Amino acid sequence: MNHHSSGVRTSYKLAETVLQELRKQKAIDLTLEFRREDECLIIPITLSEEKTLSLLEELEGDFEVKSFTFTQKEELPKNLFEAVKEDIPLALHSNIPKAYDLIGDIVVVDISEEILDYKAKIGKALLSLFPSISSVYRKASAVTGETRIRELELLAGEEKCETVHQEHGIKIFTNVCKTYFSPRLGDEHKRVSDKVKNNEIVVDLFTGVGSFPLHITKKKEVTVFAVDINKIALSCLEKSMDLNKLKGKIAIIYGDCRHVVNSLLKADKIIMNLPGKAQEYLDVVCQIIKPEGIIYFYQFVPDDKPEEKIKQILEEKLREQNFSIKEIISFQKIRESAPREIHACLEVSVIPDST
Ligand SMILES: C[S@@+](CC[C@H](N)C(=O)[O-])C[C@H]1O[C@@H](n2cnc3c(N)ncnc32)[C@H](O)[C@@H]1O
Repeated sequence: MNHHSSGVRTSYKLAETVLQELRKQKAIDLTLEFRREDECLIIPITLSEEKTLSLLEELEGDFEVKSFTFTQKEELPKNLFEAVKEDIPLALHSNIPKAYDLIGDIVVVDISEEILDYKAKIGKALLSLFPSISSVYRKASAVTGETRIRELELLAGEEKCETVHQEHGIKIFTNVCKTYFSPRLGDEHKRVSDKVKNNEIVVDLFTGVGSFPLHITKKKEVTVFAVDINKIALSCLEKSMDLNKLKGKIAIIYGDCRHVVNSLLKADKIIMNLPGKAQEYLDVVCQIIKPEGIIYFYQFVPDDKPEEKIKQILEEKLREQNFSIKEIISFQKIRESAPREIHACLEVSVIPDST
């Protein structure tokens, strides 16, 4: 059945960016079919045309918002549970994943052992739930090794690992198979970048694909030194630097931060997002931090008294370097990293003990 409704017509080139913005606002009308014509995608929307225009006003490229004719969709499942419940025995329903990571146009899902036999059905269902998704992978190992990557197994769609993810309007080029990337850190990247002031020197010791530096230099006239041991992650960062208009500068440094960070560098702020191991690199930090400089120290800590625990780990290692915490500026719970464990950040200023 045909239906008149507001929609966005966009070139294929801009379609992914438009879709991500609309998805964030839950503005796509999922009851209507998308249309494709003349190298353009026409996306039905639930928001008013006026609101949609203001939502998309910062996008550069070819799109228009007006009324189109759409075809009503057949009643589709609303979520993964509804899409696969008929295929999976009732006794196993509690194992159907409730969450998954959407990274650009790739979905990464964690499927428990109990329902691994149904992984192909889950992959296919996720692919059909998201019209703009090209690939569905499952987590096939834990995050391991120095580069903090995990094995992924393709369940449905195209065998491709590279994609561009959007976080608060910033385009992040990533390779889900060969770099660490979590879409759950977007708010944290923004939180930290909002605190940086123009002309500061920032060092991101474990930058991965450079999300912190991209967020910071998008808004501020600063230099961020982005260090990582994973060459592929840094080549993703280089690509992102071309995709975004940045006010500041990013200096990429490849290698183990213990060996490649120049001790002549003096930093106002140092970001240490390598939970579990960050404390082993406080000697590097203490060599390059300005007096009263600020550290963003990340750890996985028990959810019982997490602030005390993270402070204890940091203080103990700072003491070995003859440094102390001057002031605790903030404590941030980021996400649950395991049952009864959280990924947290302590923001502190530090001083050498002699001053
Ligand atoms: C948790 S991930 C980075 C996350 C990233 N900061 C973000 O917010 O998305 C940790 C990163 O540290 C890098 N790494 C591990 N040991 C390192 C070292 N000794 N020197 C430099 N980078 C290192 C890994 O390659 C990985 O990309």
